[in-house]
Amino acid sequence: APAPPVTLVIFGATGDLTRRLLVPTVLNMTQSGLVSDSLHILGIGIEPGDDEMLRAKLEDFLTTSNIKANYSAETWQGLRSRIFYRQGDFTQDAIYAEIAGQLGAQAGRNAAYYLAVPPLFFGDIVDKLADHDLLKETDGAFRRLVIEKPFGTDLASARALNARILNRVPETQVYRVDHFLGKETVQNIMTARFANMMIESLWSNNFIDHIQITAAELVDVGTRGKFYDATGALRDMVPNHLFQLLAMVAMEPPNSFDAEAIRDEKGKVLKALRIYSSEEAGQNSARGAYTSGVSGGRTIPSYTDIPDVARDSATETYVALKLFVDTWRWAGVPFYLRTGKAMTARDTEIVVTFRQVPFAQFKGMGPQRRLTPNRLIIQVQPDEGLHIEISIKSPGLSVETMPVSLDFNYADFFDIGKLTGYESLLYDLFVGDQTLFQRADSIEAGWAAVQPFLDLWATSAERPDPYPAGSMGPQCADALIERDGRKWHQPDVE
Ligand code: BG6
Repeated sequence: APAPPVTLVIFGATGDLTRRLLVPTVLNMTQSGLVSDSLHILGIGIEPGDDEMLRAKLEDFLTTSNIKANYSAETWQGLRSRIFYRQGDFTQDAIYAEIAGQLGAQAGRNAAYYLAVPPLFFGDIVDKLADHDLLKETDGAFRRLVIEKPFGTDLASARALNARILNRVPETQVYRVDHFLGKETVQNIMTARFANMMIESLWSNNFIDHIQITAAELVDVGTRGKFYDATGALRDMVPNHLFQLLAMVAMEPPNSFDAEAIRDEKGKVLKALRIYSSEEAGQNSARGAYTSGVSGGRTIPSYTDIPDVARDSATETYVALKLFVDTWRWAGVPFYLRTGKAMTARDTEIVVTFRQVPFAQFKGMGPQRRLTPNRLIIQVQPDEGLHIEISIKSPGLSVETMPVSLDFNYADFFDIGKLTGYESLLYDLFVGDQTLFQRADSIEAGWAAVQPFLDLWATSAERPDPYPAGSMGPQCADALIERDGRKWHQPDVE
């Protein structure tokens, strides 16, 4: 059923997020009947112009760029006439009076305020919206606030930002986006676990040896040097995206599928992440920065040679961590996380490696008499799927084992490639389901777990280790896992 009518007020309407993700998503949703046909978009931006300026700009982008959207010309024409634009300064009152006028024209109008702006504006916009009574829910109309990452840059700033926002609007109206939660395969983690006895009954330290979570990217930092040099791989990817994957993998079964029940369970996992001392943080991490090389067929200059990056930058473009979730279920099971730019392949995956069988009498197992352990691989991107590696008897007269993979590929059954990944997020926003959005406590728990690494590196004289663009990271990251007698899972590269 289509979601209720709403005015989507986008702060930062002429920016990249709006044209690359938000508008294509609304188009996909309109095409499949998921939004009301009286949905309005009210774009707000600093750039001078009128409704037609924004409409034409978006149209130009939609027709010339390679975006993931699947919609008809009529769908665009219909939406086009419901897109409006108001120019204004987010820190001044005038634009909020203008928004109030627009919303006020239709009594009881639902509104979702989408903050597609740099984080320095978050606090000011929320204060001004509240000052102008724009967050108050009256006449049964909802008022929701959507905030994109980065949500803070460390524990203290995340706490301060949460406090400032929650001082003006209740948590039930706040939707903090982590776009990884919009990915179909990420949402499928809970189903794979809680709809399958075969999987969930093995899901603990009794049967699992360790878990690897990887988000390897082909893309380099490119033109994002200014943002990235102040951020680094850890802040950019770990407390948000990778921890969301970790929480999905490690959470207890919720007692209902209500948003709060699920968010409680995910929050418990993040709060159980072991908080390291400075020394432990050093022992359980590896950092890298790429040097020139070829990644994805492109020649990439060294990170420290690109625009807006300090020549002596100590910012990491790769990070690997070994973490523990201190709970009954996960005691003793290491979670190895890694992410980096300019790597060998685009590969986001979760690899669960099971323990060895207790006794094996087979021939052909190699000198250590060890079988290849079972693995379950949740492939998040690029080729979404679920793979289970088992050992079989290799055909022939003698009993020799060999590993094979049971493969489920989304592409064989579904066409999810045309979606932006924001469809379920926007739909849930419009119907008021907070399941896929991050709650304040989880955000803070995530930052608390990475804070020891941030503190250590802020004071360390050491630089991240070099790794050539197009490789799978620095040697120190291999050493981090190999000293435990384990290896990083290698991505399939065509
Ligand atoms: C963003 C980061 O949040 O996630 C980017 O800021 C990163 O640096 C991106 O490239 C990765 O998302 P995806 O969906 O391409 O895996």
